[in-house]
Amino acid sequence: MRRIDSETVRHILDTANIVDVVSDFVSLKRRGANYVGLCPFHNERTPSFSVSPARGICKCFSCGKGGSPVNFIMELEQMSFNEALRYLANKYHIEIKEHEISDEERQQESERESMWAVNDFALRHFEENLTTHPDGKAIGLAYFRERGINDAMVARFHLGYALERTNALYEAATAKGFDERFLVDTGLCIRNERGQVYDRFKGRVIYPVHSISGKVVAFGGRTLRSDKQTAKYVNSPESAIYHKSSQLYGLYQAKRAIVERGKCILVEGYMDVISMHQSGVENVVASSGTSLTDGQIRLIHRFAENVTVIYDSDAAGIKASLRGIDMLLAEGLNVKVLLLPEGEDPDSFAQHNSSDEVEKYIAENETDFIRFKTHILLDEAADDPIRRADVINDILRSIALIPDLVKRQVYIAECSRSLGIREEALGLQLQRIAAKKAEDESVKIQRRQTLESLNQKPAEDENAGPAFLKEYERRVLRYIVKYALCEFCDIDNGSGKFEPMTVLDYVRAEMQRDGLAFSNPLHVRVMEMVEETAETWPQNRKEVETRLEVERKKKLDEAYADLRSQQLGVSAINAREAQILAQCDESYRAALDHAALDYVSRTLCSSPDDEVRRLSTELSIDRYHLSKVHTKHTKVESERESLIRLVPRAISELKGAILEMMIHDLQTRLRENPDAGNDVELLREMMRLTALRSEFARNLGERTITPRHI
Ligand code: UTP
Ligand code: MN
Repeated sequence: MRRIDSETVRHILDTANIVDVVSDFVSLKRRGANYVGLCPFHNERTPSFSVSPARGICKCFSCGKGGSPVNFIMELEQMSFNEALRYLANKYHIEIKEHEISDEERQQESERESMWAVNDFALRHFEENLTTHPDGKAIGLAYFRERGINDAMVARFHLGYALERTNALYEAATAKGFDERFLVDTGLCIRNERGQVYDRFKGRVIYPVHSISGKVVAFGGRTLRSDKQTAKYVNSPESAIYHKSSQLYGLYQAKRAIVERGKCILVEGYMDVISMHQSGVENVVASSGTSLTDGQIRLIHRFAENVTVIYDSDAAGIKASLRGIDMLLAEGLNVKVLLLPEGEDPDSFAQHNSSDEVEKYIAENETDFIRFKTHILLDEAADDPIRRADVINDILRSIALIPDLVKRQVYIAECSRSLGIREEALGLQLQRIAAKKAEDESVKIQRRQTLESLNQKPAEDENAGPAFLKEYERRVLRYIVKYALCEFCDIDNGSGKFEPMTVLDYVRAEMQRDGLAFSNPLHVRVMEMVEETAETWPQNRKEVETRLEVERKKKLDEAYADLRSQQLGVSAINAREAQILAQCDESYRAALDHAALDYVSRTLCSSPDDEVRRLSTELSIDRYHLSKVHTKHTKVESERESLIRLVPRAISELKGAILEMMIHDLQTRLRENPDAGNDVELLREMMRLTALRSEFARNLGERTITPRHI
């Protein structure tokens, strides 16, 4: 196992030029300081894809995709972080230095590596059974043939067969030297109380489950018997490499088609995915029979904006899954649903029809989800006015989940037409629902906080921290990610002397002063990475200085040589020389300043941690800076120049929000517990907090730091 050296990673990230990288896929035109082109992530006629060479990032203002060069390649080519790095290294002819990973690193990784390896072995074992073993051919392969699955699909999905023998896999794997431990850890084998180990899958056809990057993480085994006692499917258990709730069956095989079409089709089962693929519809994944999870939904959103959910037409099934669809709406996806003809499921439908017919049926019958829901619920309510009112509220609740205001508006307009109710009335009711939702949420938050303050574990661990604070934290975090190393103010060091202070130092000091930390775990992680990255800056700064010094010297030499070739008097030469020197010094300083400013945000936007990278990119991308309209004549005060006001304000607002929350929490406790009124501690705390609040209100906005003396 080898890993790319961190210097090489750094070198690649430093070298990769966003305009260059994007230009290989998109034809770009210069517009002001930026470049624009047609977005490669979705179909469009007018360019909304913007590239900022200054910030080293790109973004589509229509579909929102983009990011650093690594991000762009990962997204466009559906590569892993490492694959994207190798791609860029290759493009820029950068030699990749790798090292054998250390014992410590190995220990951390070897467990998972071994599990992947043993799964990989099992996959090939099952595959071989199916295609070459007499039993496998006679039973397993015959079964797939009977279900109309061709050899290409058998190969593409690595379908297999587990022999009907006690320990066929166990014996084959241990004979090859695989450790029994990993057979058990992956769930391929089961160890009973007496310590005996035996195969989990026996006499079943096998559907391997691949991760997005193509690693085998789990298996599903379908029985070929039809008796009721035998479970239809046996699946791998959760393990260090398999978290069911964040996998989708078929995504590895489907991702390319999903990106190309900008749409993901969601079905239920293994066979549905495979038969649809066989009929040529390849952008299909399965939730594997369970209800959708947040993780799966976010996974879909990484690849497409549009989702079509296919149902077999039984009404009970449809009603049961309406909630799952609401979750898709809340994620901001455009959701359509498709009902299949009576008695068909995606598998049978794809088998009974030609691929053209399947495509045509989908195109003609997929229905916008809200419209669909309105239709089936209203049908059910018939003419009963009370039930009709319930239905309308139910639909408005779905609409309220949609994050995009414009889309919400469009739905309201449409519902108004189809329900025969005035738009204003629907809009008003929508507002009520939204307000109620916000209230419920804040009650939930308060409860959780009360629980937390009582040092109890919250009942539901959503790991999200108080949602109320999230926005305030993000605002502060944004300045940190974008401007961490920017010296933005001068601070009195106590002896009347002013010293420059960076945004990072300032925020850290302000938060420490009041014993605050971010509450959202992702924000904490980003903050940690900023700190780590900032620590490596001095080292990097030296390298940048050396590089800039070389450039500066080269420029100077050239300019001097040029000067000497001209016929000038001594005093004119002296004057010109001084001018050139000043110019070169100035551009050196500017370049160094720029490098410092970008160092943290660039590093974070290329972080191997998916969540950190995504959030950092989002925070770094700036609508104003990347805006298509370039105002040449109006001088707008840049964000950087305004940091002196913006950063302290963001911190104050965060503190204010925390304070508000603590007061609210205390009030709730006082209200809910009649005895609390006699609790002196509690009352004293209440007085302290309210005093703090009025002091805070007085000080808010008061400038306590000095602008940079430049
Ligand atoms: P289905 O019963 O629709 O199975 O369950 P299927 O995949 O269409 O299989 P065929 O057509 O009968 O061969 C849908 C999905 O639910 C999960 C599986 O992932 C299956 O693909 N499932 C179902 C289980 O995990 N366990 C079960 O016992 C049943
Ligand atoms: Mn089926």
